[in-house]
Amino acid sequence: MAAGIDDIAIYIPRLYIDAADFAKARGLDPEKLQKGLGVSQMAIVDTNQDPACLAANACLQIMQKNKLSPEDIGRLYVSTESSFDESKAMNSYVIGMLEQVYGQGAFEHCGGVETKFACVSGSYALYDNTNWIRAGEAEGKHALVVVSDIAKYDMGSSGEMTQGAGAVVMLLNDEPRLLSFDPKVTATSIKDEYDFYRPFGKETPIVHGQYSNLLYMIQVRKALETYKKKAISSGLMKLEPGETILDHMDYLNMHLPYSNMGKKALAYLVRHEWRQLPRWKKIIQEIGIQEPIPKDPRGTIESVLGDEEFMAKDHEFTKAFTKTREFQEIYEAKLASSLVASKMIGNLYTASLYLGFRSCLEFEYQKGIDLNGKRFGFGSYGSGSSAMVFSGTIQPQYEEIVKNMNLEAELAPRRRLTLDEYETLHENKLSPEESILRTKREFILVDVNTTTESRGERR
Ligand code: CAA
Repeated sequence: MAAGIDDIAIYIPRLYIDAADFAKARGLDPEKLQKGLGVSQMAIVDTNQDPACLAANACLQIMQKNKLSPEDIGRLYVSTESSFDESKAMNSYVIGMLEQVYGQGAFEHCGGVETKFACVSGSYALYDNTNWIRAGEAEGKHALVVVSDIAKYDMGSSGEMTQGAGAVVMLLNDEPRLLSFDPKVTATSIKDEYDFYRPFGKETPIVHGQYSNLLYMIQVRKALETYKKKAISSGLMKLEPGETILDHMDYLNMHLPYSNMGKKALAYLVRHEWRQLPRWKKIIQEIGIQEPIPKDPRGTIESVLGDEEFMAKDHEFTKAFTKTREFQEIYEAKLASSLVASKMIGNLYTASLYLGFRSCLEFEYQKGIDLNGKRFGFGSYGSGSSAMVFSGTIQPQYEEIVKNMNLEAELAPRRRLTLDEYETLHENKLSPEESILRTKREFILVDVNTTTESRGERR
């Protein structure tokens, strides 16, 4: 049975901080953000927005657009790493808000949980809900998977350059107009790690930035190895001599904590895949530096990440590889369009992979490319740490959805924050009613009261 993404919608806060303003205030070269990281603007939440409100706004939008009633929805999952309650799941808050529109008890029949595994949890939620549909449990109903996050780091930390906020919701069913997931190839990798984590009570994470970058690439590569075995053994793909698994994916969407990380991760995967090919010797000559080999040639996480000298050389090599003509071609063809939205919005943690997917659809379609039947590969990563690699193909009715996508229009009108305003928001100095923007017909946070049940309201 087919199962996959029928439609996708986003909700992005209307406040943002400009990378140039931010760099000036922190005494950084703006080029470090704009060119080094690929960050131009970062979306920032107002005082009256939390991840549940972002998620509820995205859900309402997709339901109204598709004229769905709560009866049509059988599952509502929220995946986030900005959770604000250790017990009550975020999807229950979202349902509470949606019932202000659809009526008390309208979602009573519906199931779902909040899922957590840093930025990868949305991919696990998609997989589980796809299998709920494939198992025939959905009985004609749809699933909503919402990925919603506020990426917030300590002021003055290196992570502060990679913030952002927003929600992406995906409508899943057995006749998806957009993308049908390839069955029996989803691959995972997991290990107990401390590259990025947020202990109880802390609003911002503890981050080992460069370590997390390399761990991301190693874990996704491991998952890709498993994906390759599954794709070949299930008969989905057959590798001819001189081909790699990446030749069978028209597009690759990577997790995007900042847009250039997608490029780095793609380069890492490509170079490891190409190493077996005859053309690799010529590329090494073009790069002009030797490819570093880890002490343990199997490239175990311990041998790679424990060796500072190797890490530095490996980083330098990947960076040099990104400049080759061969890599530039693959980058432009398979990845570049997915980075456009990330540059304008910033890090969305769980949602950043799916914002990238949506970005790729819109900007490839605008080029006049027929996307029907094209295979998308997804490289999902969550610190802590786990990766998931999976794929799907674009369905014949995709145009119905993609032709109306217009990121610029959906983001506008946006308000550029001054650094003072941003810092006041960052340090939570204002109450919800002191919001910078006056929003209408949106779910907003009215009050945080730990003794009552109230939280979001639609105003
Ligand atoms: N002009 C142009 N480029 C410049 C520059 C300048 N003046 N100055 C620096 N750069 C380049 C650097 O060369 C570097 O590029 P390469 O990676 O290609 O070498 C890039 O800008 C960034 O510079 P640094 O590596 O020196 O940056 P940093 O160490 O200060 O911070 C970071 C980078 C570690 C990613 C930091 O932003 C951070 O800690 N971010 C949060 C953690 C994170 O995003 N990790 C990603 C993987 S984990 C994950 O994905 C989970 C998640 O969502 C958080």
